[in-house]
Amino acid sequence: MKIPGVKGMNDVLPADISRWHEMESVARDVFALYGYREVRTPAVEHAQLFARGVGEATDIVNKEMYVFEDKGEELLALRPEGTAGVVRAFIEHGAYVEGPQKWFYVGPMFRRERPQKGRYRQFHQIGCEAFGIAEPFLDAEQIALLADYFGRLGVRAELKLNSVGDQNCRPAYLADLKAYLTGRKAELCPDCNDRIERNPLRVLDCKVESCQPVLNAAPRLLDRLCEGCRTHLDQVKAGLDALGVAYRVDPRLVRGLDYYVRTAYEFTSDALGSQSAVAGGGRYDRLVETLGGPPTPGIGFALGQERLAMILEKNGRAATVRAPEVFFVTADAEGALEALRRAAELRQAGIACDLDPRGGKMRAQFKQAERVGARHAVVLGGNEVRTGQAKLKDLQTREEKPVALAELASALRRP
Ligand code: HAM
Repeated sequence: MKIPGVKGMNDVLPADISRWHEMESVARDVFALYGYREVRTPAVEHAQLFARGVGEATDIVNKEMYVFEDKGEELLALRPEGTAGVVRAFIEHGAYVEGPQKWFYVGPMFRRERPQKGRYRQFHQIGCEAFGIAEPFLDAEQIALLADYFGRLGVRAELKLNSVGDQNCRPAYLADLKAYLTGRKAELCPDCNDRIERNPLRVLDCKVESCQPVLNAAPRLLDRLCEGCRTHLDQVKAGLDALGVAYRVDPRLVRGLDYYVRTAYEFTSDALGSQSAVAGGGRYDRLVETLGGPPTPGIGFALGQERLAMILEKNGRAATVRAPEVFFVTADAEGALEALRRAAELRQAGIACDLDPRGGKMRAQFKQAERVGARHAVVLGGNEVRTGQAKLKDLQTREEKPVALAELASALRRP
């Protein structure tokens, strides 16, 4: 019986993996330039962490989280996002005593969403979290980091920026918004109606065509920001201008997680279709405290690797493979043993090579050498073993030249 993979959870096959390696290695390089250091946290946390951290009223926690009882003892969850776990680790290890910290992570996240293109139940994020600095220039620097990262990968993405206010200005606004939405309930879709009480800000995120007139005319938090939030946003913009990062202020940009205050941002790409956000983030100045740490401001983002991979592929960014420098074609048992030894020698010298331990017809072995993209082939049999001499065949030009087996590594280094 064939057992299929789990719905919404994908394999990344060897033919595509180099794009993933590139995403990750460029991230490591660029993030290091900005002072971010990697942290690895478990894929499983106490469910409570996300309920408190991300918010009970969010779809992510309320509808989409994979929660299970660990042998009837405690309620655990597959992490639906990275921030809450990173904050937990930050608090648990007392990292705040060392002053401001910049951390990043790479790994799988799980949300039981309805799978569609660009939306999966296991997906991968690369994320950054910066702790301990409330000043808006940090926001600008972090957003610029992400723009820098996309630039290096040749990805064009639009930056949308907003402020979602804070505990001073948001409550009064939410009350007004709720009243407005309730008054126009009849014109809104069932999803919106569902959210008016639970999470009114999220209603603004609705993409249903018939809801748009009501939502476009809704009161805007951007017009109601308190002095502190207004100045913060102005300074973020000034920072971005100074760094030459283009953005569009989108008053309807809201995020699907409850911990945000002030800065919220997203990078979107036309190459993606309806799930157009390739990265999203924002400030979460209360989260460390909410999760039991000392008051510590923070800001972060995460990008979706599946979505970024789609853009890279669409851009024609080739997936590359490291082809073997040489493929040993063996004529007999003696040759096969020699090939095994010589291959080990070359690999010790850092030269990629391969052979087929099944041996068999030489013609078939040459075909295989070509299929794996080998640059050269060397035929080994009893005769070559005895003389210590063989022929190095260039599989592109078909040229052959004699080579001493003992000098194979240097011959391959200087073709
Ligand atoms: P998020 O907006 O929920 O934010 O996710 C960030 C990115 O992850 C999205 O822009 C998208 O590219 C990708 N993503 C999310 N859900 C899926 C899915 N079901 N399938 C494929 N890709 C997906 C967060 O997760 C926050 N923790 C970001 C953050 C970090 N904020 C502060 N620090």
